[in-house]
Amino acid sequence: MSAKIIDGKAVAASIREELKGRVAELAQRGITPGLSVILVGDNPASQVYVRNKERACIGVGMNSQVIRMPETTTQEELLDRIDQLNADPSVHGILVQLPVPNGIDSWQVIQRIDPKKDVDGFHPVNTGALFSGEPGLIPCTPKGCLELIKREGIDIAGKNAVVVGRSNIVGKPMALLLLSEHATVTICHSRTKDLGAVTREADILVVAIGRAQMITGDMIKPGACVIDVGMNRLPDGKLCGDVDFASAEQVAGFITPVPGGVGPMTIAELLVNTYEACVRNG
Ligand code: GUN
Repeated sequence: MSAKIIDGKAVAASIREELKGRVAELAQRGITPGLSVILVGDNPASQVYVRNKERACIGVGMNSQVIRMPETTTQEELLDRIDQLNADPSVHGILVQLPVPNGIDSWQVIQRIDPKKDVDGFHPVNTGALFSGEPGLIPCTPKGCLELIKREGIDIAGKNAVVVGRSNIVGKPMALLLLSEHATVTICHSRTKDLGAVTREADILVVAIGRAQMITGDMIKPGACVIDVGMNRLPDGKLCGDVDFASAEQVAGFITPVPGGVGPMTIAELLVNTYEACVRNG
């Protein structure tokens, strides 16, 4: 059996198209959602991510501002810039691209962003709301993964969901989102014993560990839905996920490719969060 490939690129395009219409409606009332992205330093991967975010914003008719600050920026300077954006009524979403350079404490940075403008969903007010099942801004990558599962028509309630990875950006919020959909959730990580024995029980398997092709077909339950959050570069320069696609697609029922799976969804959900922050808070 060969898995159905979940086309994240196509789903993201349709989300952006829906959003474009809603942004146009807002424009008739003289409102344009605005996203400000702060990039500190010159991490090459971050530069690409930030450029893609900016392009996507403009594509749906939102305002986008990228604030580039040098590697030598102090924590105080960065916090001051965030304060200015917090006070600017034309800015509805603020995102500080991570990682920030050594010497800057990302936890202090995250806490400084107005939770109403925290389109990453990393502020403790928003993570706390997710924990408590209350409305708030939800981190973009796990939100995008959940959207892919739902749009595929996969029932989540009562299913065994296994999340591999326990990061604040993906693993932990993903587990909470699946729990809120009534899955039975297990979180695995680098110290998990016999990872394959756990992942083989998963009806829904979300993998976000940052290790190329670590999850192989023999670790997957036949027919499972496999969501691969990984983005790794192989020695030959090719991009690949945390799942070994060739062996996994022989076993899974559904699988996301890399590239073209979760990646485009992260950006689409960032736009959705920016729109929602704008509508909720003017
Ligand atoms: N770096 C890698 N992923 C992310 C993300 O989702 N948000 C931010 N701000 N930085 C990141």
